[in-house]
Amino acid sequence: MAELQTSGIFAPGVIEDIQAKAESGLYSIRGFGTLRERRWATFDDLTFLPCSLTRIPLEGYREKCSTKTVLGTRFAKKPIELDIPIMITGMSWGALSFNAKVALAKGAASAGSSNTTGDGGMLRAERDNSRTLIYEVLPSRYGINIHHMREADAIELTIGQGAKPGTGGLLLGSKVSDRIAEQRDLPIGVDQRSPARHPDFLGPDDMIIKVEELREATDWQVPIFIKMGASRVYDDVKLAAKAGADVIVVDGMEGGTGASPAIFQEHTGIPTLAAVCEARLALEDIGLYGEVQLIISGGIRDGVDAAKAMALGADACYIGTASLIALNCNKPIYEDDYRAIGAAPHACHHCHTGRCPVGITTQDPELMNRLDIDQGAERVRNLLRAMTLEIQMLARSCGKSNIHHLEPEDLAALTLDASAVCGIPLAGTRKVFGK
Ligand SMILES: Cc1cc2nc3c(=O)[nH]c(=O)nc-3n(C[C@H](O)[C@H](O)[C@H](O)COP(=O)(O)O)c2cc1C
Ligand code: SF4
Repeated sequence: MAELQTSGIFAPGVIEDIQAKAESGLYSIRGFGTLRERRWATFDDLTFLPCSLTRIPLEGYREKCSTKTVLGTRFAKKPIELDIPIMITGMSWGALSFNAKVALAKGAASAGSSNTTGDGGMLRAERDNSRTLIYEVLPSRYGINIHHMREADAIELTIGQGAKPGTGGLLLGSKVSDRIAEQRDLPIGVDQRSPARHPDFLGPDDMIIKVEELREATDWQVPIFIKMGASRVYDDVKLAAKAGADVIVVDGMEGGTGASPAIFQEHTGIPTLAAVCEARLALEDIGLYGEVQLIISGGIRDGVDAAKAMALGADACYIGTASLIALNCNKPIYEDDYRAIGAAPHACHHCHTGRCPVGITTQDPELMNRLDIDQGAERVRNLLRAMTLEIQMLARSCGKSNIHHLEPEDLAALTLDASAVCGIPLAGTRKVFGK
């Protein structure tokens, strides 16, 4: 019998998508991050060049390699000091359950790192369990509270996210429980779409006033971060630096989300690798590289991705999805409940449904109780530690006594694309392609 052939253009997933739209008249929304594997340059297209004869490596057990990370040295009286360069990104209480928020705070604190609030404001238990807490100021203003802001160790003015640049937040009604509705001043059970733009400024000129307002509100004590989705990164980073940011966060196309239109995850913004290269160049070109710190996020999976981002110019990395995976996201347990939402372990991106089988992205008390806070915190701490050890190991092998001394010279490109994007010679040649 002749082999059955599916179309490469109208592939099974495309057919299902068209038929779903034909039935509902709606576009598709989902959580997680980019799903399609595409031919773009990623961190996997780079390799480290450890020492052999031209440089001397450091001994793993005997020679120190510092991981201390200081952020916000430009204007803030109290820059943030972390033991490690991997931080937990902003994820809202609403998208995440209470247990997930507290587990992330505890895990980050015990690893000597930070965690970040999210759309919807701060939880008291989050502050109480954090060592360093970054407070997000988003266009929605949900849950915003000046007293909470003054308790924070840094403020993050969020312009956008990598998973949905140019659009606002999204929380489907199934997650707007009575507690979330109260915190955000919303009706219970109704879909919530937050604005794409901040109501108090339009563009970079009046954003300067907003940054000043946040500084006044916090008495110039804590760093002001500006977070953006990676789009026109070169210009946007320059504008954010000009507006007075101490720290700039660039969230690449691969960035995760609790809910976003699927087309935005797949077809908007630029990849994280490209974003870090453009961001560094922008800061170098205005003479602020090193003075304004850079945090990179979007699809960071392990210490290798983070070390490559740091060698290319990042001072630190945020992780979101990886930290949720540490909390058991996509783990093969409660398999019937994955099936009930049309998912399966290792193939779940159904955070938007509010029916997370492992208790992370849900407001249902029964599901949430599947996530034990202390066990979750320990797993998050272990992941942060293991990632930091990986970065340290790579740095030592490149002869660095400080992970922040990793540099583009420590890398070679494995593809022409990566060579062109990163300005790094292609392995086996001494040439940077695309120059
Ligand atoms: C469940 C979830 C909720 C999120 N909520 C927010 C939010 O409230 N505010 C925000 O700026 N970004 C939010 N994000 C995006 C993250 O802050 C970050 O930019 C992204 O997750 C980084 O990519 P990664 O998940 O691949 O590490 C959320 C992400 C996830 C996975
Ligand atoms: S397991 Fe939960 S957190 Fe992970 S993708 Fe599925 S719904 Fe989202």
